[in-house]
Amino acid sequence: MSRIFNFCAGPAMLPLPVLKKARDELLDYRGLGMSVMEISHRSSAFDELADTTEACLRRLLSIPDDYAVLFLAGGATAQFAQVPLNLAGPDRPGAYIVDGSWSKKAFAIAKRLGLAHLAASSEGSGFKSIPAQHEWDLEGDKAYLHYVSNETISGVQFRQPPESSLPLVSDMSSDILSRPVDVEKFGVIYAGAQKNVGQAGIALVIVRKDLLQDLAPVVPDLQSWKIQYQQGSRLNTPPTYAWYIAGLVFEWVEATGGVQRMAELNQHKAETLYQFLDQSSFYQNAIPPQFRSHMNIPFQIVDESLHPRFIAEAEAAGLSSLKGHRSVGGMRASIYNAMPIEGIEALISFMKEFESEAG
Ligand SMILES: Cc1ncc(COP(=O)(O)O)c(C=O)c1O
Repeated sequence: MSRIFNFCAGPAMLPLPVLKKARDELLDYRGLGMSVMEISHRSSAFDELADTTEACLRRLLSIPDDYAVLFLAGGATAQFAQVPLNLAGPDRPGAYIVDGSWSKKAFAIAKRLGLAHLAASSEGSGFKSIPAQHEWDLEGDKAYLHYVSNETISGVQFRQPPESSLPLVSDMSSDILSRPVDVEKFGVIYAGAQKNVGQAGIALVIVRKDLLQDLAPVVPDLQSWKIQYQQGSRLNTPPTYAWYIAGLVFEWVEATGGVQRMAELNQHKAETLYQFLDQSSFYQNAIPPQFRSHMNIPFQIVDESLHPRFIAEAEAAGLSSLKGHRSVGGMRASIYNAMPIEGIEALISFMKEFESEAG
C-alpha cells in the first residue's frame, strides 16, 4: 500500500487510523452483520453512535450543556441560509465581516434573503487581510455578527474570535478542532466536515439553546435548528456514514491528545512552511504574518510561468492537489489536522529540488 500526501483543501486527507477502523468495520459494524451505511438512523445502534459521537465532541471542545450540537446535511453552504433564517429578521439583520470568498458567499446568501448587513470588507485589498475592528459598522439592531474564522481560499485566519456584544456566529469549516476554542464566546459555531471533521455531506452546528426559536411557517422544517434539535438531527434520514466517520475522527483527535495538542502540531507545521517561504527569493506568500492561516498556505513562484510545471511534478512525486484555487492561482498547501509533519518536510524538500532544477 502506498499513501500519498494529499494537500487538497477539501475533501482533505483523513487520519490513517480512521480509515483503517472504517475499513475493519465496513462489512460488520460491531457485530450487527451490516455496515453503518445499512443500519436505520432510528435504530438503537445508531442512537448509541450519535450519543458517543456527540459526547466525544463535547469533551474535545468543552461544549457547555446549554449548547445544542446538531449534525445536519447540506454542508456549510446550507448553513449560509440557515444562519439568517434561524436568527435574523427583516428589521434585525445579521452583520457580516467579509474577508474572503466564503464570507462573501455567506453574506450574499443572507443578503438575498433580505437578512444581511455588511459590517466590513477587505475585498478592495484582494482579501489579504482582516478589516480592523474599529472600522466595522455595527450601528443599529443586529441579530448576530458573522465571520469565517479561516478563509480557506486566500489563507487568512482570525487568531482570536472578535470581541462583540452581539451573538458571534462563526463558520469554522476549515479550522474547527485545529485549536482550542472558547465555545461560550459564541452564539453559533458551524462547520462542514470534509476538512477536519471527516467526510463531506454533513455539517456540525453548535448553537446556544436560547437562540433556538420557532420560525415563520413559510420556512421548511428541515431548515429549523429548533426542530432539528427536538428530533435529534434526524427529522429525515441524515448522512449516516458521514456522521459515523466524524465520530471516528473525534476519537482520533482525542487519542492524539485533543485540540491543544492539535494546535501545537499545526503551529509547528505551518511555521515550518512559512519560514521556508519567507527565506526564499524563489517562492513567496503574499499574506501579512498576522493574518496567515495555519491550515491553508497559498504560495507562488516569483516566475509564475513555472506554476503548471511545479504542480505536475509535485503530483508525480506524491504531493497531491497543490494547485491553488482558480481565484488566487499559484499553489496552496492545505495542512489540516490529518497532515503529518512528514508531509510538510516532503513538500519542502521537493520545493528545494524544484528550485535547484528550474531556478
Ligand atoms: C470556510 C468554508 N466555508 C464553507 C465552505 C463550503 O462548504 P460545503 O462545501 O460543505 O458547503 C467551505 C468549503 O470549502 C469553506 O472552506
